[in-house]
Amino acid sequence: MARKMWMRGTVAALSATALLALGACSSEQAPAAEGEETTSYDGGETEEAGDELISIGFSQVGAESGWRAANTKSIQDTLTADNGFDLSFSDAQQKQENQIQAIRSYIAQGVDVISFSPVVETGWGPVLEEAKAADIPVILTDRAVDTEDDTLYESFIGSDFVLEGEMAGEWAVEQYDGEGYQMVELQGTTGSAPAIDRKEGFADAISGSDIEVIDSQTGNFTRTEGKQVMEGFLQKYDEIDLVFAHNDDMGLGAIEAIEAAGMTPGEDIKIITIDAVKDGMQALADGKINYIVECNPLLGPDLAEVAQKVVAGEEVEKRIVVEDKTFDQEAAVEALPSREY
Ligand code: AHR
Repeated sequence: MARKMWMRGTVAALSATALLALGACSSEQAPAAEGEETTSYDGGETEEAGDELISIGFSQVGAESGWRAANTKSIQDTLTADNGFDLSFSDAQQKQENQIQAIRSYIAQGVDVISFSPVVETGWGPVLEEAKAADIPVILTDRAVDTEDDTLYESFIGSDFVLEGEMAGEWAVEQYDGEGYQMVELQGTTGSAPAIDRKEGFADAISGSDIEVIDSQTGNFTRTEGKQVMEGFLQKYDEIDLVFAHNDDMGLGAIEAIEAAGMTPGEDIKIITIDAVKDGMQALADGKINYIVECNPLLGPDLAEVAQKVVAGEEVEKRIVVEDKTFDQEAAVEALPSREY
């Protein structure tokens, strides 16, 4: 723990027992919120005497999607003791109150850096003020917070979700404008940055086309809820030509609902999704999804670099935009063999 190691240097006269006690503090975990899972993750490495590990508390949204699993793996594989970190990781199970409690625990623990991917955009002011008052830098990954005061965090690393929605909508217009398509939308978690921004980007891109959005509901970024919402749409509407799902998992749930209704996904009903995780890419290669806009989950290396700079007192960029690609069927077939996630 960088800050605690500095303390060790200044108290060289302390007894071995006292030093051991300080060492014990450095591996303390944030107490878990109710229903929240917390782990201290060292990537299997052991801290050697004299190492100055940066202690970092990371509050993850949950485990709702293949994208999230890949994002968690990237963070845990990168923020290891070998790479100079002492990571405390907590899973908020898609509940903002769990994230707030985890962040408060990291503040009480006195970690060097706090990082989190906010489940929703609003409601973070008070806890971010508390981190600032405790002089603990905060790095946002993946999702943004809605705040006027950008001094509450050091940097935000993640994709441009509005652009992702636009890229998806532009492809829909290129392919389907003029056909009078009726579209349904499977939105991500209500109030989350990707749900808000992807909806906005897609709507902008299709405005002026004859694609009509006949319904739009949340499937909470999960396969199960995506399937349930799609089943409801299929019962309610005689004609659905196109689905825009805010992530692959909801699109994969929609595929199950469409097949169960005796139709062929990708043909009878076209599907566009966002993420480009392996399962989604396989469905695209198989012709069940028609187009995917990538959302790159491999944010661990950028987070490690920014955290190291922040602790060293170096300047960091306030906004680090992660580049995303797009895939049609041919591109998916080509990319699948070497796809990392
Ligand atoms: O915030 C990124 C989004 O969250 C991903 O698109 C989705 O799969 C995840 O749950």
